[in-house]
Amino acid sequence: MGVVGNGWRGSRDDVDQRHEFSQCDGDGAMILKVARLGHPLLRRRAKAVPMALVARPEFQRFLDDLVETMHEYDGVGLAAPQVHVSLQVAVIEVQRNPRYPKAPPVPLTMVLNPRLRPASRRQALDWEGCLSIPDLRGQVPRWRSVIVDGLDRRGRPLRLRASDFFARVLQHEWDHLQGRVYLDRMHGLSSLTHLAERARFWAKE
Ligand code: NI
Repeated sequence: MGVVGNGWRGSRDDVDQRHEFSQCDGDGAMILKVARLGHPLLRRRAKAVPMALVARPEFQRFLDDLVETMHEYDGVGLAAPQVHVSLQVAVIEVQRNPRYPKAPPVPLTMVLNPRLRPASRRQALDWEGCLSIPDLRGQVPRWRSVIVDGLDRRGRPLRLRASDFFARVLQHEWDHLQGRVYLDRMHGLSSLTHLAERARFWAKE
């Protein structure tokens, strides 16, 4: 647990990092406010993280805040635009997650400035949710395997090869950095379902 951060609210639409990061101080990770569908930042392509920013302690603290926020809301991934910061940053982790109890574990992964490409010709259809679209799930087609090239939290080159659920989460988070949400990827909206109704009517799928 941490405290709810409020230092970011005045600059949520401002991508001037000097301004944003100057307001973040104090010890310990903060839980950041999550933007919900309708906020324009979720529909904007995020800016690349400049190398000069990576070494800044404020930026490193922001990465910790992003992880703390993902944990607080039982997310399996979180992209910076979801916390009102329009930068190409995503975090992913799957460990005994109550929102995705059957998901295989994925160690904590952070990626900056990712480029994603499919590594298979096959897609799979499965359920997704999103912290920015609360209480809903929908069936989304995704590439079964992907390769992601980017940077780790220290700015070193990083290559991720992922399949199945990990690949799905990477595609979901990468989409956030392009200004897309999972609804945009659905074949249609007929499987879009509230959580309680999914448990009641779709449990066998
Ligand atoms: Ni999401």
